[in-house]
Parts: sequence; structure tokens; C-alpha cells
Amino acid sequence: MHLPFSQACENNKHPILKVISPLLTQAKTLLEVGSGTGQHAEYFAQQLPHLRWQASDQAINLPHLNCRFNLAELGNLPLAIELDVSGNWPVSTFDAIYTANTLHIMSKPLVESFFNGLAIVSKSNSQLFIYGPFNYQGQFTSQSNADFHVWLTQNNPLSGIRDIEWIMDLAVQQGFQLQTDFEMPANNRLLHFSR
Ligand SMILES: C[S@@+](CC[C@H](N)C(=O)[O-])C[C@H]1O[C@@H](n2cnc3c(N)ncnc32)[C@H](O)[C@@H]1O
Repeated sequence: MHLPFSQACENNKHPILKVISPLLTQAKTLLEVGSGTGQHAEYFAQQLPHLRWQASDQAINLPHLNCRFNLAELGNLPLAIELDVSGNWPVSTFDAIYTANTLHIMSKPLVESFFNGLAIVSKSNSQLFIYGPFNYQGQFTSQSNADFHVWLTQNNPLSGIRDIEWIMDLAVQQGFQLQTDFEMPANNRLLHFSR
């Protein structure tokens, strides 16, 4: 099977690992939402062997995700599970939840569904990591993000770069407080929340 490949994932996986690695030393289980190609899941599971990395995505992405994970043969990388944020969420809870480059793809109601789902899969001390581009006070942080937003909305008028203030409000409603807003390469952010 031809495995999809994202150059962006190859570029950002090292800087993301540098941030999340010291924050996940005590975590044993993590749920990734919207795993995409599975490159992040495979790399982070390799690099963080104490952590069971549970990837997930919409059904259409499961065949290639699970092909990749079968080839990887990592004991802490189980097969990906189907998870559409607007559908049924797993009944288990996780020490951490991670999602990258998803909230600007999802419509606003789907972003709300993502946060509502956190109530099901998180515990009293869970951490939350959200990677991607965000706006501040309604402003793009770069011309490239502004151009990206136009491209996104041309593909799907319901997609678009989200305001960090709105994301923080939704997180607070689920009991998550922003701990650090990490500046990342290529005008992205890595938001770390904890309860
Ligand atoms: C731009 S890709 C990002 C993939 C990967 N996380 C990365 O960083 O490269 C967006 C991902 O969001 C997923 N996605 C979109 N809508 C979703 C939904 N309603 N529920 C769950 N995942 C969704 C897509 O299937 C896709 O894998």
C-alpha cells in the first residue's frame, strides 16, 4: 500500500518532540485526534517508548494508518481507532490528548465537538496539546498564515485559522488552563493545557 507522506510532518516532528517530551515523562497513555498520515504517531511512539500512543482519525484514514503502524511494529503504537469528533468517542480516558493541524480544517461546530469530546476522554489531571496556526485578537501572525487562511476557505468555506482566545475559552469550559503557548517554526504554535 502506498503510504501518504507529509513533508510538513517531517519538518515539524522534531521541534514538536522537543516541546512535548519533557512534559510527557509521567504520562502513560495519549490519544491523538486526527492522526492524518500517522507520521507523528509513529515517530513520537518510537521516541517516547513509555507512552502508549493511541492514534485516531476518520474511517477513511484508518487503512493507511494501520498499514504504517503494522510495518512499524512498535509495542506502544496500537492500531488507530475510528474517531470523528462529531461521533462516538472512546470510553477510555487518557493522560494526554494531542492534536495537530486539525482545528483549522474542522468547521467551528466540529471544533466545539472536539472540546466536548475531551470531557469523555480526559481525567482530572490530563494534559492537552494543540499544534497549528492561530490568530491573536483576530489578527494573522504572518502574511503566510493569512494566505493559508484564504487557501483553506477556498477549499472549504467552513475551515479557517482559529482565534486563540476562542480556543482558550473552549478549553476552560472543559477545565483546561493554558500553561504555555510555545512559538514554533513556520508561524505555528504549540498550546499546552493542563487541568
Ligand atoms: C491537515 S490534516 C492533519 C493531520 C496530522 N495531524 C498532521 O499534523 O499532519 C487534518 C486531519 O484532521 C482530520 N479531521 C478532519 N475532520 C475531522 C473530524 N470531524 N474528526 C476527526 N478528525 C478529523 C482529517 O482526517 C485529517 O487527518
